[in-house]
Amino acid sequence: MNFKKIASALLALGIFTISQTVFAQDEIDKKVDSVLSKMTLAEKVGQMNQYNGDWEATGPVTKDVGNKLDEIKQGRVGAVLNIMGSAHTKMFQDAAMQSRMKIPLLFGQDVIHGYRITFPIPLAEAASWDPDAIERAERIAATEASASGINWTFAPMVDIARDPRWGRVMEGSGEDPYLGSLIAAARVRGFQGRGLGSIDAVMACAKHFAAYGAAVGGRDYNSVDMSLHQLWEVYLPPFKAAEEAGAATFMNSFNDLNGTPATGNKYLQRDVLKGKWNFKGFVVSDWGSIGEMIPHGYAKDNAEAALFAVTAGNDMDMESRSYIGNLEKLVNDGKVPMSMVDESVKRILRKKFEMGLFDDPYRFINASREKSMLNRPESREEAREIARKSVVLLKNDKQLLPLSRQLKTVALIGPLAKAKKEQKGFWSLDIDPNEDIQSVMEAMEKAAPMTKFLYSYGCNIDDQTKSGFADAVETAKKADVVVMAMGEAPDMTGEAKSKANIHLPGVQEDLIKAVVETGKPVVVLLMAGRPMIFNWTADNAQSILYTWWLGSLGGGAIADVLYGDYNPSGKLPITFPRTEGQIPIYYNHFNTGRPGVSDKDVFYKSAYIDLPNSPRYAFGYGLSYTTFQYTDDDAFYSKAQIKDNETLKISLTIKNTGQYAGEETVQLYIRDLVSQPLRPVKELKDFKKVFLQPGESKKVTFTIDRNMLYFYNDNLEYVTQPGDFQVMIGSASDDIRLHRTFELTN
Ligand code: NOJ
Repeated sequence: MNFKKIASALLALGIFTISQTVFAQDEIDKKVDSVLSKMTLAEKVGQMNQYNGDWEATGPVTKDVGNKLDEIKQGRVGAVLNIMGSAHTKMFQDAAMQSRMKIPLLFGQDVIHGYRITFPIPLAEAASWDPDAIERAERIAATEASASGINWTFAPMVDIARDPRWGRVMEGSGEDPYLGSLIAAARVRGFQGRGLGSIDAVMACAKHFAAYGAAVGGRDYNSVDMSLHQLWEVYLPPFKAAEEAGAATFMNSFNDLNGTPATGNKYLQRDVLKGKWNFKGFVVSDWGSIGEMIPHGYAKDNAEAALFAVTAGNDMDMESRSYIGNLEKLVNDGKVPMSMVDESVKRILRKKFEMGLFDDPYRFINASREKSMLNRPESREEAREIARKSVVLLKNDKQLLPLSRQLKTVALIGPLAKAKKEQKGFWSLDIDPNEDIQSVMEAMEKAAPMTKFLYSYGCNIDDQTKSGFADAVETAKKADVVVMAMGEAPDMTGEAKSKANIHLPGVQEDLIKAVVETGKPVVVLLMAGRPMIFNWTADNAQSILYTWWLGSLGGGAIADVLYGDYNPSGKLPITFPRTEGQIPIYYNHFNTGRPGVSDKDVFYKSAYIDLPNSPRYAFGYGLSYTTFQYTDDDAFYSKAQIKDNETLKISLTIKNTGQYAGEETVQLYIRDLVSQPLRPVKELKDFKKVFLQPGESKKVTFTIDRNMLYFYNDNLEYVTQPGDFQVMIGSASDDIRLHRTFELTN
C-alpha cells in the first residue's frame, strides 16, 4: 500500500482529513488545472449547472426538463439537490461515472435542522444561546446526512431578521449580529467537522447572501433597500463569521439590494465576498434566482440573466437553466471571457477534490454506514438536550411551574396537545415516514404515571368556531392544573410563509380566556416558528413556555421542562412585539433626538400614541424556575480607561437565590455614548452562562477590549473612536443590573 492509499484508508475511517494530509492546496490546484485542461466548454458549463432531483421540489418546477440521468451522462450537470439515501444517490453518481470526464456529482440538500433526527428549528436553537450545543447538533446532522450520500447542505441560513412577519425568521438566529455570528460559525464548524474530506463532513453553505431578511414589509422575496452602513453593521457580520469559519460555499438570494438583484450583484459577490474577504469556495444561486432576474425587470432574457449572474460572481446555477442554455454561446460570442468560466469551474472542482470525491465518488454512498449512523440513541439524547435548552419561560406567576408529579389530575387542552410530526416544524425532512414521535400528552403521561390526564382539543389551529370550548372548559374544571398546547401550524412559518397577522391564530386566544376563567391554574405552551402576538394570554395566563418547534424529541423535552427535570434557561434571540404595528422592533436601535423616558412625554418618545414604546418581550429575555441576584464586585463605579491594546475587566457575583439549580445567561451590552455616525443604544458584545445550585454564588468576569468597540464609519472603514462608553450587564436587554462607563483613549 502506498502512502496515498494509507491516507485514503485513514480518511475513510475519519481519522484525519484530506486538507491536513497529502492533498495540500497547491497539489489540489494542480489536479484541478489538469482536469480543467481536458474539459470542453460544454463540460465546463455542465459543472456550473445544478438540477433538482426527481422526487421532491423545494421551488417552482422547471418546465420542459429532459431526462436528468441522460443529461448527467452527457456531462451537463455538476450537482443535484433533493436526492437522498444511498440507493438513490448511487443511481445518480453511476450516471456521472458514465460521462466522458467522470467528474463526480455533488449532492446538495436542505439539512436545515437535522437529517433523520429533526432538531429544534434554528430560531429555537438560537434561544439556547449555546453555540457549542448548536455545533454538536449540526455535527449529528452532518454525520447522518453524509452517511446517506449527501455531501453538501444548504445551511446555515445566517440572515439577520428583525421582522417576525417574515416566514423565514424561523430558519435563522434572530435579530442580533453578535449572537448570529457566533451561531453562524458554530454551525459551519458543526457541518464541516474535522474538515472537508472527513467522511462525516458535509460542505456548509452560508445563505442568503445578502440581506434577504430585510425584505420590505416582511414579505418573502421582496426588495431590500438599506444603507451600506446598515448592511455592514447588521446584516453582513454573520456571513463574515461563516466565511472565517471556513464555509465551503455561499448561496446568494432572491431579493434585490438597493435595486440590484443579489444574484446579479457584483458588489456583494465579487467585491466583498471573493475580493475583500478572499473567499475561496463557490457561490450557488438560489433556486431559479438567475432566471428570476427577468421578472425582476433586471435582465431581458435568460441569456442576459446568465451574463449578469456569471459576471457578478455567481458560480453555479440552481434550477434556472440559464447557464446550461446560454453560457456556451455567451463565451463563443465573446460576451463572457473563458477565464471567467474557468474560474468558476475551478472553484467547484476544488471543492470536489477537497471532499475526496475524485478519489472515490462513492465515499459518502454506503448502505451499511447509512444504516448504522442514522437515529443513534446518543444523537437522540443530544437532540432532546438542545430541545430543552431552546425552551423560553416567559411567565411563571406564583411558581406554578415546575409541576408536581403528585398532581392527581391534569387537563391537556388545545390543538397541539397530541401533535406529533407537527413538532418537527418547517424545513424538516421525512427520512423515516414511520418515525415515532411522542406528543406532549404522551410524554407527560410517561413522566407522571401517578397523574390522571384528561384531554380536550378545544379548537383547531385556524378554527373560527368555538364549538369545542364547552367540552374544554368542562375538562379544565375537573383538573388540578391545565396545560394548553397552542400555536401555529408548522407550515405557517418557513419559505413563502410571511404573514400580515401574527396573532395566535383562529380562536385560540378565546379558548385560553375561557379556560383561564374557570379559575384553574393554566400553563400555556406556545409552539411556533416565529414570535407570535398573544397579549391577553401574556397578561392573564399563569405560566407561559415558548417552545417553538422542538423537533423529533420535542414532546419529551417539553415534559422535562414542565416537571422540572430541566430548569428552563432559554433567552429570546428576537424581540416579541406587542402588535404588528410596532414591526420592525429591535433592541439595538439608535436613539432619536427626542427619545423620552416615559410614555407620557408626548413630544419626546418617538413612538405611537396608542401603544407603549416597549416590546412585549425584549431581546435576551427568559425566566428560570429559580432567581439570580447580581452583585457588583466593586464597591463603587470607577471610570476606567482603555488605551491601545489594554483591556478592562468587570467582575460581578451571581447568586442563585431560589429553590432550583439553574443556569443564567449573563449578558454584556455596550453603548458608544457619542459617535459619528450614530451607534445603537446597546449592542450585545459578550455573554456567559453560569450554572448554580440553590444558594450558590459564582464570580463572573468580563474582559472588555478594543475589538468590541469597532464599527464602520461613514466611509465603511472599520474603526474605533475615542470617547466614553457605557457597559450594561444584565439578564435581558431590558433588565440591566449593572452599569459602568469607561473611556477609550487613543
Ligand atoms: C430556495 C430557498 O430559498 C433556499 O434556501 C433553498 O436552499 C433552496 N430553495 C433549495 O431548496
